[in-house]
Amino acid sequence: MPGHRQLNLNLFIYPDGHHEAAWRYPGAEIGRLTDIGWFQSLAQQAEAAKMDAIFFADGPVLAESIEYAPRFRLEPITLLAGIAAATSRIGLIATASTTYHEPYNLARLFASVDHQSRGRAGWNIVTTTNDQAAQNFGLAEHPSHAERYAQAQEFLEVVTGLWDSWEDDAVVADPASGRYADPAKIHALHHKGRFFQVRGPLNAPRTPQGRPVYVQAGSSEDGRGLAARWAEAIFTAHQTLESAQEFYADIKARAAGLGRRPEHIKVLPGLSPFIGGTEAEAKRLQAEFNALVQPGYALNQLRQMLGVDFSGHALDAPFPRHLIAPDAARAVASRFQVVLGIVDREKPTLRQLLHRLAGARGHFVLAGTPEQIADHIESWFAGGAADGFNIMPPWLPGGFTAFAAEVIPILRRRGLFREDYSGATLREHYGLPRPESHFAAGEARLAS
Ligand SMILES: Cc1cc2nc3c(=O)[nH]c(=O)nc-3n(C[C@H](O)[C@H](O)[C@H](O)COP(=O)(O)O)c2cc1C
Repeated sequence: MPGHRQLNLNLFIYPDGHHEAAWRYPGAEIGRLTDIGWFQSLAQQAEAAKMDAIFFADGPVLAESIEYAPRFRLEPITLLAGIAAATSRIGLIATASTTYHEPYNLARLFASVDHQSRGRAGWNIVTTTNDQAAQNFGLAEHPSHAERYAQAQEFLEVVTGLWDSWEDDAVVADPASGRYADPAKIHALHHKGRFFQVRGPLNAPRTPQGRPVYVQAGSSEDGRGLAARWAEAIFTAHQTLESAQEFYADIKARAAGLGRRPEHIKVLPGLSPFIGGTEAEAKRLQAEFNALVQPGYALNQLRQMLGVDFSGHALDAPFPRHLIAPDAARAVASRFQVVLGIVDREKPTLRQLLHRLAGARGHFVLAGTPEQIADHIESWFAGGAADGFNIMPPWLPGGFTAFAAEVIPILRRRGLFREDYSGATLREHYGLPRPESHFAAGEARLAS
């Protein structure tokens, strides 16, 4: 492990790439989006580049925009199991909802992935923003933002208790005495809460990492509160260095306020790079993708972000800012602010705004040379805005192949990124401690 601070880099996999028109780009591998071999090969490429982890987003509802793009989702935890079998070092992060999962089932799923991968599992904790999901789970309506976060807090207490329910030395496995496990080191939770009642213990031994790495991606007040208490890595979307610095400082301060060490929370903004031999070439590549954007898709996405349907407005007229009610913050409270920030700073036409969001849904999109991409990464890393990045290739595999072949070597030459793995688990890649079972530590309950 080098003495100095180095970047943590994840590959954020969207099946065909993050740009909404990636599947229409010549050479796109459309037919492979349900093929485990496709995902294994992307993970193997990320592992060969010594990346920290691959990451899958998720939502338990079909996107309305399926007509225009392959925005379907294979269930990501089962994908991780398939990828674990074809890799040995790359971290494996999947998204799962605290609103639309049962804690006991989810604890089993991630425990299994952590065992199968010998300690590489990570869980992106979301409360699910898409209010249509409720109809897939027998709910009359999607719980409110505050309700979802209250449930998420309790959900985390329960699953953490389950992952801690076997102490590390509970398994005796002594054929001579016939004793396989020490019941005194396997603990029931007897949890009775507002949202869940779970007796426990978990029905599997404690995992190599103890618990999967806790990842989170909320930026609202509730989101930041949950992150400060639980998150070990945070994904976030920022358009400016200043807003990323504000978020970074705030999260680290909140965590320190709860007695946590700031370096045990990795802040990882999204970055979607278009890479070219010259800046002009990179911008031409980006323009090629934007030319494939379908207003039907883009306007639908904008409606979900801002709560207003702009389909009746001229695309090349100034963006009708007056139509947005100031208090209209949507389910994705923080993303609403990101988009409004673009509108107020750049005064785009409707089409220009659609193209701005086309690349990565409000995350930072940069078209430039490998040096320019590396400069951007270094400036946020050194400027108190990031501990690393969620790399979001506009298209796959080409967008990632270019990043791995042309940007990572520059980061290495600058001493900013690892030459090789020094550890085997995701916690070791991120430099995070392995939590002891709170039962073993003699704590009857999780420290609040
Ligand atoms: C990089 C990143 C990935 C995300 N992935 C998902 C996802 O897979 N599923 C989901 O429902 N929400 C996802 N979100 C949304 C967040 O979970 C959260 O709802 C959103 O950031 C709004 O947070 P807030 O309610 O605290 O404002 C993601 C956000 C970011 C920044």
